[in-house]
Amino acid sequence: MTGMRLGEFVKSVAAGAGEVLLKYFNRVRRIERKLNAGIVTEADKYAEDYILKRIFRSFPDSSVITEESGEYKRESSLCWIIDPLDGTTNYAHGFPWFCVSIAVYEGKKGLAGAIYQPTTGEMFSAVSGHGARLNGKRIHVTRETNIEDALLGTGFRYATGEHLGREIYAFHRVSEVARGVRRPGAAALDLAFVACGRYDGFWERGLSPWDVAAGFLLVEEAGGKISDYRGSPTGCHDGECVASNGKLHGRLIRLLKGTGSKSRARAD
Ligand code: IPD
Ligand code: CA
Ligand code: CA
Repeated sequence: MTGMRLGEFVKSVAAGAGEVLLKYFNRVRRIERKLNAGIVTEADKYAEDYILKRIFRSFPDSSVITEESGEYKRESSLCWIIDPLDGTTNYAHGFPWFCVSIAVYEGKKGLAGAIYQPTTGEMFSAVSGHGARLNGKRIHVTRETNIEDALLGTGFRYATGEHLGREIYAFHRVSEVARGVRRPGAAALDLAFVACGRYDGFWERGLSPWDVAAGFLLVEEAGGKISDYRGSPTGCHDGECVASNGKLHGRLIRLLKGTGSKSRARAD
């Protein structure tokens, strides 16, 4: 299948799973606590079942990594990386900020991805080498060079104790400088917002591949930059990300390291 056709397929599956999520939104009956952290509702599972059926019907040999049921290893080099519901805590509380995130990778290379927010009907998508789109229209990261004029996003979901303190400290340092920092609770959507220019940057640690697989491809195809907290290249299995328009990346990294100054600095 060509990249473009894969892209169409990914969007169609994400849209279908979004319908499943909408059907149960504000009607959640079961909220279970997960072993490691966090919660899961019946909607996460129904949306995941829907996605797996669609993928295995069309790509029976491909591997899958998915949040709720784990890993399916098959012989094909294609691997689907799926978050059937990103933003479960929001969803469980009727807070309309959540999405479906699906990407297909070949090794470390993202081929196509889609992030669908069913409450707004926004479909963010990307195909490697063909750019990123929002509801079919090309999107790009911002050109902002000054962090003082930037709107940024972050997340620090289940961090506790000293980890939470570290995240709050980073939040504090960046908030002192940036125009604004948001923490809405769906990392995939945060990355989509960097890609389409609503945010100038985003950072978060402790992420899973399904939180970022589609978002990394979107940001890169929209002209942005992804790194770890030291500014080095990172992949979707590495657990942390700093995403930005590229122009204010260095300044954001320095602030996260605690070495950035509050004063207005030359953009880089
Ligand atoms: C979570 C959300 C949240 C982020 C967490 C993720 P989930 O995913 O993306 O914004 O802070 O790190 O685990 O559990 O709602 O799919
Ligand atoms: Ca997630
Ligand atoms: Ca999830």
